[in-house]
Amino acid sequence: VLVHELSGLGEMERQLEQTFKLAQVIIVPGDSEIESYAKSLIGQEAAKQLELLSQDQDTVAVTGGSTIAAITDHLSVHIKPKNLVFVAARGGIGENVELQANHIASAFALQASGTSRTLYLPDHLSEKAYKTMIKEPVIKEMMDLYDNTNIVIHGIGDAKEMARRRNSSQQELDTISQMQAVGEAFGYYFNEQGKAVHRIRTVGIQLKQLKQARHLLAVAGGASKASAILSYLKHAPRQTVLITDEGAAKNITQLM
Ligand code: G3H
Repeated sequence: VLVHELSGLGEMERQLEQTFKLAQVIIVPGDSEIESYAKSLIGQEAAKQLELLSQDQDTVAVTGGSTIAAITDHLSVHIKPKNLVFVAARGGIGENVELQANHIASAFALQASGTSRTLYLPDHLSEKAYKTMIKEPVIKEMMDLYDNTNIVIHGIGDAKEMARRRNSSQQELDTISQMQAVGEAFGYYFNEQGKAVHRIRTVGIQLKQLKQARHLLAVAGGASKASAILSYLKHAPRQTVLITDEGAAKNITQLM
């Protein structure tokens, strides 16, 4: 605790909490883009928060990405078995398997002695395919789970970087740049003012469902993600706990 305060991390945590009216901000030392120990520390803090905030039989929606994947190894140590149901927050299969939400939901369930519900769908559905899909009973079931999600654990990415990682079409890339999207989280793209300006057409948790959740864990670090994280924080729901690193936090406070 003393080291934390002396290094100024505690002060930055309070500053971010107050500015963005968040439930809590946790900043780990280092920069997770450069030092792998920092990413592991973020994962550890997120696992501890999940233990603290979850109740028996809660439904926990999780997104993809390497930061969320870094939580996996810490779950068996920190989570007491309480029948948590882990749900993939979206159906996307646009990334490497181990970074996909459905893979992560299964891995979390295994480590936390819970169960999981997954959804395998392409990341870029045509409008026609999307409209047909959402009528399927299995998709409706997922939407019901999203309606009753208690906790959401999600990453935040740089808009352009995420579009590139997902092999987005030229049309989608153009939309993202025209709309001046800066950040991305759970399939939504946000502009500098924190407004959702675009959403990937796939089945997944919606903003209004996310806002109903009891707790939100926004988990993202790295200096280069500062503007993306900042864009998301502008309108982040009050029940958000941000778990980030020194690299991102320092840049965010400079951009504020
Ligand atoms: O939505 C954001 C991304 O999933 C973040 O991915 O943790 O690998 O940077 P990352």
